[in-house]
Amino acid sequence: MPLEMRGHAVARALYDELREVLAGLSYTPALRVVRLGDDPASVSYTRLKDKRARELGMDSQVIALPASTSEAELLGLIDELNADDGVDGILVQLPLPEHVDEGRVIEAISPAKDVDGFHPYNVGRLWAGKETLEPCTPAGIIRMLDHYGIELEGREAVIVGRSNIVGKPLAALLLRRNATVTVAHSRTRDLAAVTRRAEVLVAAVGRPGFIGPEMVAEGAVLVDVGISRVGDELVGDIAPAAHEKSSAYTPVPGGVGPMTVAMLLANTVRAARRRRG
Ligand code: GUN
Repeated sequence: MPLEMRGHAVARALYDELREVLAGLSYTPALRVVRLGDDPASVSYTRLKDKRARELGMDSQVIALPASTSEAELLGLIDELNADDGVDGILVQLPLPEHVDEGRVIEAISPAKDVDGFHPYNVGRLWAGKETLEPCTPAGIIRMLDHYGIELEGREAVIVGRSNIVGKPLAALLLRRNATVTVAHSRTRDLAAVTRRAEVLVAAVGRPGFIGPEMVAEGAVLVDVGISRVGDELVGDIAPAAHEKSSAYTPVPGGVGPMTVAMLLANTVRAARRRRG
C-alpha cells in the first residue's frame, strides 16, 4: 500500500513550532493580506490565511478592495504597508484583475516583507542558494517530503508546470537538495516519457487528472499541487489510478494545500525576526 502524505499532520507540527517561537517574542508579528475583487477561490484562500494567523495569535488583517481598484491605488497601499514599521509581512493575493500589472505590484513590495517570496530580489537569492523568504507552496512541499522521510539527494525529480509560484521555485529548492531536476511544461515533447523517468513527480498544472497511471513509474513518489473543482468535488492533477503505482502520494484535498498556509505564517515569523532583530 502506498503511503498517503497528509499536509494537515505536517502543518500541525509546524504550527506547534511556531507557537513556541511566538511565545518567546516580545512583539506580535503582523501580516497584511491584500485582495482585489471577490473571486470565490481568492476569498476562501485569503480568509483561511487570516484565520490561521489569528489562531496563532498573530496580528492579521485582510485588506479587501474592489476589483476596480487602480494599479496606482494598489501601489499606494503597498507603499504605506512598506513604510509601516508595525507590518512584517505583505501578501497580495494572485491573480490580480487584468488592468493591474502583477509584476509591477510584486516588485513594489519590500523584499524584507515579501512573505510570498515572489519579489525578483528574493527569487534571485533563492536561485543563488542564499537564505531568503521561500515561496510557500514549494517550501511546504519540501517540508512535507522531509517529514515523511522521502530521500531527494541524487534522485530524478520531474516537475510538470513552470509557474513562478510553484514549478520554478520548487526546481530551485529541489536542486539545493541535490535532486536531478527536470521542469516539463505544455510544450514538452513526449511528456509521458519524461514523467516516467521520475522518482519524485510533482504535478502543478491545474488540469484535473492530467497525469494518468501510464505516465508514472512503479514506486514513484507523487506530489499533487493541482486543485480543480469538478462538479461538487475538488480534484488534483494526478488521477487516483496513478496512486496505486506509487510508493507515496499526496491526496487532494488534504495533501499539499494545508502546507501553503503554514509556510506563509512561518515566513511571516521569519520576516518579523529578521526585521526586528
Ligand atoms: N494565488 C495562488 N497561490 C498563491 C500564493 O501562493 N500567493 C499569492 N499571493 N497568491 C496566490
